[in-house]
Amino acid sequence: MNTVELIRKKRNGFELTTEEIEFLISGYTKNKIPDYQFSAFLMSVFFKGMSTKETAALTKAMLYSGKVIDLGSIKGTKVDKHSTGGVGDKTSLILAPIVAAAGVNVPMISGRGLGHTGGTLDKLEAINGFRTDLNLSQYKNTIKKCGAVLIGQTANIAPADKLIYSLRDVTATVESIPLITGSIMSKKLAEGIDGLVLDVKTGSGAFMKKMSDAKTLAESLINTAKEFDKKVLAMITDMNQPLGNYIGNWLEVYESAKVLQGEYVEDLCTVTHNLAGAMIFLGGKAKSIEEGIQISEEMVKSGKAYDKFLEVVKIQKGDINLIKNLESYPKAKFSDKVLAEKDGYLKSVDNYEIGMAALDLGAGRATKEDIIDPKAGIIFNPKIGMKIKKGDVIAEIFTDRKKMIDKVKTRISNSIELSNNKVSKPKLIKSILS
Ligand code: URA
Repeated sequence: MNTVELIRKKRNGFELTTEEIEFLISGYTKNKIPDYQFSAFLMSVFFKGMSTKETAALTKAMLYSGKVIDLGSIKGTKVDKHSTGGVGDKTSLILAPIVAAAGVNVPMISGRGLGHTGGTLDKLEAINGFRTDLNLSQYKNTIKKCGAVLIGQTANIAPADKLIYSLRDVTATVESIPLITGSIMSKKLAEGIDGLVLDVKTGSGAFMKKMSDAKTLAESLINTAKEFDKKVLAMITDMNQPLGNYIGNWLEVYESAKVLQGEYVEDLCTVTHNLAGAMIFLGGKAKSIEEGIQISEEMVKSGKAYDKFLEVVKIQKGDINLIKNLESYPKAKFSDKVLAEKDGYLKSVDNYEIGMAALDLGAGRATKEDIIDPKAGIIFNPKIGMKIKKGDVIAEIFTDRKKMIDKVKTRISNSIELSNNKVSKPKLIKSILS
């Protein structure tokens, strides 16, 4: 087969065969196809899309670029959650210990920040010492011992996704339904799970801005999971403003630990308990999602989820003293405030801009080689519908990059729209599909 011919075929809108897709994925993974050709292929998929058959072939080729883990020797059901990505989306950090404390195993293989969105791995690595690079036997032992494990792709697990993910991040080819489907499902199917809860985000801070696209993505993910005989459920959730108030890697660990210690952050807690409830339900520990939500809330109230979080951090070699003394984390060199310029009700937030502002401060990557600053980020205070007075603190920013401060303050100021009339809050859980 000829790579140029296959790029041209996709570019001209034709369907690729399973063998052709396998050729491209395996060629890129084995370093036989260079970045520049694969980028052109990704861009062709971005514009021309893929059929259901092509998407399944893409997922399969990415999945079998590595190992599929067998967790059959571990007792109990194994359920994971995956988000399509958002700003301030830290639910994995909170729900993995909740669900494990409720008796459902959570084997979680996560990704890094992508585009304007944060990644669970980068957040976990903000905890000094936390190891996300466990090998397969350490992965299995950890789940056996404490019921939850959070790692990144190893060289064995969906290596194709690891490579393609970072190439997509820097070639503007993230927001593509087949590419997102292949990326998420190849990682998730490799984990050895019985069930999967999908958090498909929609809104200005999501890859799928429109509800109709989010629904199409949810259906694409569900169909692919079903092809592999997995129990699956998808929630379409709101991403028109940051989830919770903290954006940035350590800041998100901080807010997650606070929630696990019992602090109530309305939107973050609602979305997290819904997803956790669905996982507990799929894991067979509740008769319905509603009952799962009650169990999830109980795990936080009783302190069992927080204890489980400490157990996970400790077993993965993170510094638990840091979690127990959250204020002891090193501070960014510079901080500043963005103040409201007038009175009004918060009408909308350009959440993509908030994600990009966090990236400007050092919380994300603009190129594959960029190194993340875990201290960098934003505390974004208001929520849509809130009444704001001139001079209120809209956001606090933290960075070591002094020269970015003015640009970021303007970016955040310009990202919000105020109205003289009352504004209703957005619905957080927009739809549940199974
Ligand atoms: N999360 C992933 O793992 N992959 C994507 O492509 C988008 C979100």
